[in-house]
Amino acid sequence: MIPPGSTIGILGGGQLGRMIALAAAPLGYRCHIFCPDDEAPAADVAATWTRAPYDNLAALDAFAAAIDVATVEFENVPAAALERIAAAKPMRPGANVLAVTQDRLAEKALATRLGIATAPYFAVSSAIEAGITARHLTGGAILKTRRMGYDGKGQIAIAAATPDAVVEAWRKLGEVPCILEGFVDFALEISVIIARGPDGQIAAFEPFENRHAHHILAESRWPAAIGPEIVTRAEAVARSLAQALDHVGVMAVEMFVTAGGEVLMNEIAPRVHNSGHLTIEAAATSQFAQHVRAICGLPLGSTERRADAVMRNLVGDAVLEWPKLLLDAGSHLHLYGKSEIRQGRKMGHVTRLFPLGAMT
Ligand SMILES: Nc1ncnc2c1ncn2[C@@H]1O[C@H](COP(=O)(O)OP(=O)(O)O)[C@@H](O)[C@H]1O
Ligand SMILES: [Mg+2]
Repeated sequence: MIPPGSTIGILGGGQLGRMIALAAAPLGYRCHIFCPDDEAPAADVAATWTRAPYDNLAALDAFAAAIDVATVEFENVPAAALERIAAAKPMRPGANVLAVTQDRLAEKALATRLGIATAPYFAVSSAIEAGITARHLTGGAILKTRRMGYDGKGQIAIAAATPDAVVEAWRKLGEVPCILEGFVDFALEISVIIARGPDGQIAAFEPFENRHAHHILAESRWPAAIGPEIVTRAEAVARSLAQALDHVGVMAVEMFVTAGGEVLMNEIAPRVHNSGHLTIEAAATSQFAQHVRAICGLPLGSTERRADAVMRNLVGDAVLEWPKLLLDAGSHLHLYGKSEIRQGRKMGHVTRLFPLGAMT
């Protein structure tokens, strides 16, 4: 157990780290941010900031010496940095979890091993493989880089997966190791956010329903428009993955739900997740407070829904709506303090609450 009064080290300096630090404060923890960026929304609300690249061993060692437990707010922290810290202090989640979730193929292979359904997928690491795998699919496909993709970056949708089309997409993505997925004609997208403590205790939030625009999460709703059977199945998928990974902390699993009621795993985020931001106002415990509890070995909080809610991301220029949003008593505005507005950049979010049951 890492008791209140301790210091949590967070690798990554974005808005997710900012909201973890804001949730750590009322529980009596201090946060120390480690990230290389010029601007760090998390560092603005944390006690300490080490601004250094993830391969600076001296900086990593000093960081590890200054904290009591380390976590991540971004899953692409290099494995060597995680291992360096793990040699000195508890690293939660562990480097093994990030090794799997940094690679879309390893992630899907884990799902398959656990009997969890996914879109059909194939490894593509050469032009020859690109051509051959295309023959296994009829209809649409998506080619994704195995590593470093986010918000739709590093993926190309292919309307008809012919060998030529897949080879061309593979060249466009830079001839790096990829995964070719069959296109899923889903009815809706959901995510399950689950927390797991070092002792194995688990608590899941009911699924969120997610809508994307331009491959970036646009809106999340709680509860999702799905029946209790799908809720149970989706939670079982998240639980099984968290246990198999021996994950510690909060983790999100993105899933597709088909018209026939099938639940397919899409991807795992081994961290707090954009779709759970509405838990700040709508749940008994926010995903951020839950993450702090989980990594510190405290009892997990209640995931009960206290209100129905809709969260909308303020992406790019949409953030300029902030004066209007402040006038709406039902809206809770969160701005991330980023100095420059850029297209596709998450600048803030707004959560609207509705009476419990109003959305069902
Ligand atoms: N196999 C697929 N079939 C249909 N849509 C998909 C498929 N894979 C991804 N998508 C769509 O693209 C979005 C982003 O893909 P995802 O794999 O989650 O990557 P990212 O890391 O960019 O979030 C998904 O939320 C979904 O809307
Ligand atoms: Mg995704």
